[in-house]
Amino acid sequence: MKASTASASAWDRVWLGANLTTMPGLPAYNDRHGPNELGEVRDAALAIKDGRIAWIGTRQQLDTLQWSAATVTLAEGLWITPGLVECHTHLVYAGDRSNEFAARLRGATYEEISRAGGGIVATMKATRAASEDQLLDQSLPRALALAAEGVTTLEIKSGYGLDLDNELKMLRVAQRIGEITGLTVVKTFLGAHALPPEFAGRQEDYVRHVCDEMLPAVATTKLADAVDVFCERIAFTQEQTRRIFARARELGLPARLHADQLSDGNGGELAADAGALSADHLEHTSEQSLQRMTERGVVAGLLPGAFYYLRETKLPPIERLRELNIPMAVSTDCNPGTSPIASLLTAMNMACVIFRLTAAETLRGVTINAAKALGLANNRGTLEVGARADLAIWRLRHPEQLCAEVGVHRPVEIVRTPR
Ligand code: NIG
Ligand code: FE
Repeated sequence: MKASTASASAWDRVWLGANLTTMPGLPAYNDRHGPNELGEVRDAALAIKDGRIAWIGTRQQLDTLQWSAATVTLAEGLWITPGLVECHTHLVYAGDRSNEFAARLRGATYEEISRAGGGIVATMKATRAASEDQLLDQSLPRALALAAEGVTTLEIKSGYGLDLDNELKMLRVAQRIGEITGLTVVKTFLGAHALPPEFAGRQEDYVRHVCDEMLPAVATTKLADAVDVFCERIAFTQEQTRRIFARARELGLPARLHADQLSDGNGGELAADAGALSADHLEHTSEQSLQRMTERGVVAGLLPGAFYYLRETKLPPIERLRELNIPMAVSTDCNPGTSPIASLLTAMNMACVIFRLTAAETLRGVTINAAKALGLANNRGTLEVGARADLAIWRLRHPEQLCAEVGVHRPVEIVRTPR
């Protein structure tokens, strides 16, 4: 905790008597037994100025300073957490796939539906058919639902356009969602999500098209902050993934990966080799991949909503992630097919119940480690002097209630740094 020593600070706002979870960037990210891994400060004070955290300490420490603030909020009984960071969504899409849900209840599998022309391609058709405004209208409620739960930073992927115009349309909608809601929206280009029907039987041609046409155009428009690939036997091969990442690197775009969700495709290793920010899903990831991820500092993105929704049975290797100190992020994977869940708080409960993460691991998974997965941990997902004043304020006995109790909690206030 850094306590400023300036003699007469003039702040925009100060909260007095709140409890904080500062979410320090510990070297031992997942140490379940470590002291104070949430960085709790009781009876604290937190001050903001010009959209940044200007001071943090105990109220007692504050009493020794001279300060003033335009607004003073008595916050006894409240907890301040960093604004939540949602680091993996596909929430821009048109239509719905409830028919596939119903088909799966009658016995079909996700892979069968996808091979029969449903799945991602079904959403692609609806997304292509929607105008940009219609796509925005349908997608915005999902972003607002996340925002209402205290999310202040939100990643959104493209990947339901699967041609340049429609991929750019999706990324523009993601950008507009940021402008409308005030959320920080991180945009990821996922052109290699599925093979579009016009390239049927010509997967190599599509990969060339992604590398030679789509990626350069996406880089020129600056509409994407990163590049993702669905590396899976029903999607793109390891070799194709490597090529796409190599091109992305040339264009200065960092990588993230849908890795080893339905089968072991060496995804963790591939992500590590590409210097990816995160490798997500990881249900089938091998020991060799995990070793490479830890060497390269790749964040493990855990998506319990998709595991739950597909009724998967093979859990990600959580205990090994802990032992190897691989930071674990938790996210909704909000998408129409495998996780139509626009609630990060619900995903947090699933992370605990289904993946057996501790409450502390889960809370770190939606703050500091999710920020790390987006390459933003220098000023998001943590409460420290200089970090963005993105705060979620809750009336709780303890933030572990956010993991334990479903459908109950909403922040009493959300503070977002103006853009
Ligand atoms: O993260 N795995 C690939 N993409 C999504 C599913 C998308 C869809 O079915 O529409 C996922 O699970
Ligand atoms: Fe996903």
